[in-house]
Amino acid sequence: MEKPYFIIDFDSTFTRIEALDLLAEIVLSNPREKEHVLQQIQDITNRGMNGELDFRASLTQRLALLRAHRDDIGELAEQLKTQISGSFLRNRDHIAALRDTVYVVSNGFLEFIVPVVTDYGLIPKHVFANEFIFDTEGYVCGFNTESPLSQTGGKSKIIRELNLRGDVYVIGDGANDLEIRQAGYANKFYLFTENVERETVKAGADHIAPNVDEILYELKMDRSLSYPKNRIKVLLLEGVHSMAVNLLEKEGYQVEALSTALTEDELCEKIKDVNILGIRSKTQVTEKVVSSAKRLLNVGAFCIGTNQIDLEACTRQGVAVFNAPFSNTRSVVELAIAEIIMLVRNLPDKARAMHNGKWEKSANGAREIRGKKLGIVGYGNIGSQLSVLGEALGLEVYFYDIEDKLALGNARKCETLNELLSKVDILSLHVDGRSENDHIFGAEQFAQMKDGAIFLNLARGKVVQISALKQAIESGKIGGCAVDVFPKEPKSNNEAFESELIGLPNTILTPHIGGSTVEAQENIGQFVPGKIIQYINTGSTTGSVNFPNVQLQAVQKAHRLLHIHHNVPNVLAKINHILGEYDINILGQYLKTNEEIGYVITDVDKEYGQELLDELRKIEPTIWFRVLY
Ligand code: NAI
Repeated sequence: MEKPYFIIDFDSTFTRIEALDLLAEIVLSNPREKEHVLQQIQDITNRGMNGELDFRASLTQRLALLRAHRDDIGELAEQLKTQISGSFLRNRDHIAALRDTVYVVSNGFLEFIVPVVTDYGLIPKHVFANEFIFDTEGYVCGFNTESPLSQTGGKSKIIRELNLRGDVYVIGDGANDLEIRQAGYANKFYLFTENVERETVKAGADHIAPNVDEILYELKMDRSLSYPKNRIKVLLLEGVHSMAVNLLEKEGYQVEALSTALTEDELCEKIKDVNILGIRSKTQVTEKVVSSAKRLLNVGAFCIGTNQIDLEACTRQGVAVFNAPFSNTRSVVELAIAEIIMLVRNLPDKARAMHNGKWEKSANGAREIRGKKLGIVGYGNIGSQLSVLGEALGLEVYFYDIEDKLALGNARKCETLNELLSKVDILSLHVDGRSENDHIFGAEQFAQMKDGAIFLNLARGKVVQISALKQAIESGKIGGCAVDVFPKEPKSNNEAFESELIGLPNTILTPHIGGSTVEAQENIGQFVPGKIIQYINTGSTTGSVNFPNVQLQAVQKAHRLLHIHHNVPNVLAKINHILGEYDINILGQYLKTNEEIGYVITDVDKEYGQELLDELRKIEPTIWFRVLY
C-alpha cells in the first residue's frame, strides 16, 4: 500500500499554542505598553469578528501594532520548539520517518515554522505558510500578500497546486483545515483536539483525533504507544472522588463518572465496552456482570473491602482488581487515639451531662493516658500505625497477632491473646474480617481483662459478642468502650440504628466512620487510579487482590508481551518455543502464578511480525494477550 500524504496544521496542532499570541507576549515585555497594545489588538480582533474587517486587514493591523523585530521571531521559534504538542513529541521518530509525505500548511509564518519543524525532522520545502516583510531596521512591516495563505481558502489552493497522487489526510484544529476536505482536496479530515476543541468544526470531521497516537493507530502505522489512551473507556460509579476522575482524564482516558450505583442489569448493559470499572462498596460486581464485560481489564475498588466483587470470576476472565488497603489507615488510628483519651478521661458521660444542663466538675475517674498499657489485637496496617502514634503519646504498647510481625519502636509482642488481655489497661481490636474471627471476643475474653479496662472495636462488628460487651460494661468489668462497627448496621442514613449498647455509660458509638475523612477519600481517589494506570502502562500488578503480584518498570527500547493464562503446566515453555522459532531476542522475562492463573511478561526486541503475535495468542490456555510499548 502506498503511504498516504499528511497535511498538518501548525498553530494549536503541531504546537500546543497559537504562535502570534506567544509573539505578542515576547514583544510586549514592557507591562505598561503591553496593556495598551493588547487592548488595541483586541479591538481589531473584535472588529474582524463583527465583519467590519477581513482576515487580511486584521492581520495587517495586528502585525503593525506589534512591531515585532527579527530577533523576536528568532526568540519565538526557540520558544515554540518547547511547545510541540505532546503526542507529536512522543511520535517524533515515527513522523520524521514519514517526512517525504508530510507537509505543514499553515496561515502562520515561514520564519518561525521552518526552524521548528526542521528541528523536528521534517523537510523545509514541505512547509507552506505566509512570509513576513521586514523594514531596514529589521522590524516586521507587513507580509507577502501574494501568498494564497494570506487569504481565505488559501490552504485548498496550496494542496491543489501540490497535485499529490495518493490518499491525502488533513490533520488540524480549525475551519480552514476542514475546508481542504470540503473543497475535495483531501480524503480525510482528522480534527485534532489535543489542544483545542472547536465545536463548529466537529460536524464536518471524518475522525476526531485527540492525539496523533489515535491517527497512527487508526491507520495501523508505526507509533510510540501500542494503544491510544483515548480509546480506554472508564466507568466510575458511586460518586468516586473527583481526584480519581481528574487523574484518569489527565492520563487521556475517556471517563464517564456517575454519582450512583447501578443495578446488576443496568451494569451488565453499560459495562459491555468498558475497560476500567471503578466502584465503591455498593456496586455488586457479580459473575454475570464480569461475563457481560467484553473488554474489561481492571476493576478499581475505591474502598478497602472487595467482598462486593466476585474475585474468582474476575480472575478467570483475566480482570485485575485493585483496592485501597491503607488509604484510610491514619484516619482510623486518629479516631482510636481520640477515643482512648476521651474514655480514659470519662468524657462521654461528662459531655452528655452538660447537654442535660448538669455541671459535674470532678477529677474522679479521669486519668491521663501517659504511661498506660495499650494492647493491640491485629498488628496489620492499622494496628501497627496505632502502635507508633500511641507510643508517641506515652503509652506502653503490647500487641498480639496470629502472624509473626515486626514490633515497631518499643512495642512488645505477646505470645497469646490471653497474655495480652491480662496485661493492658486499654485494648483495641484491629483484626481483619476473615470468618474465623467471628465472635473471637466474648465473655471469656472480657473476664481475662483488668478490671475497669477500656475496650475499642473499630475493626469488624461480628468480631465481638455485643451482649457480652454490654454485660461487661454494666458490671463495671470494662470501664468504657468505643464501638464503630456493628454486627448489623443500617443500610442507609434513613434507617434507624438499633443496638444493645445504646445508652450504656462511658460508651462512644459511631456510625462506621473510622476511615471516613476527607483526607482518606482523597488518598483513595489518588491511590487506586495510580495502581490502574501503572498496570495499563507497564503491566505491574503490585497490590492487586486477585492477580499474581509482579512489579515492573516502564518498557524501554523494547516491546512487552503480556500473557495471562489458566494455571496449567508448560505454558512458559510453549511461549518460549514460539519465540525461539521466530528467532526473537528476549530481553527479560518474568513468570508469576497463583492458584488460578499464570502471568508471563516477556520483553523482546521490537523487530517481529504480526504472525508471531497470532501464534502467541493461539496458545491453548490463554485468557488474554496484549502487547505493550
Ligand atoms: P490488615 O489486614 O493490615 O491487618 C489485620 C491484622 O490482623 C493482620 O496482621 C492479621 O495477621 C491479624 N489478625 C487476623 N486475625 C487475627 C486474630 N484472630 N488475632 C490476632 N491477629 C489477627 O488490616 P487493616 O488494614 O489493619 O484493618 C484492620 C481492620 O480494620 C479490618 O477488619 C478492617 O475491615 C477494619 N477497618 C475499619 C474501618 C472503619 O471505618 N472502622 C476502616 C478501615 C479498616
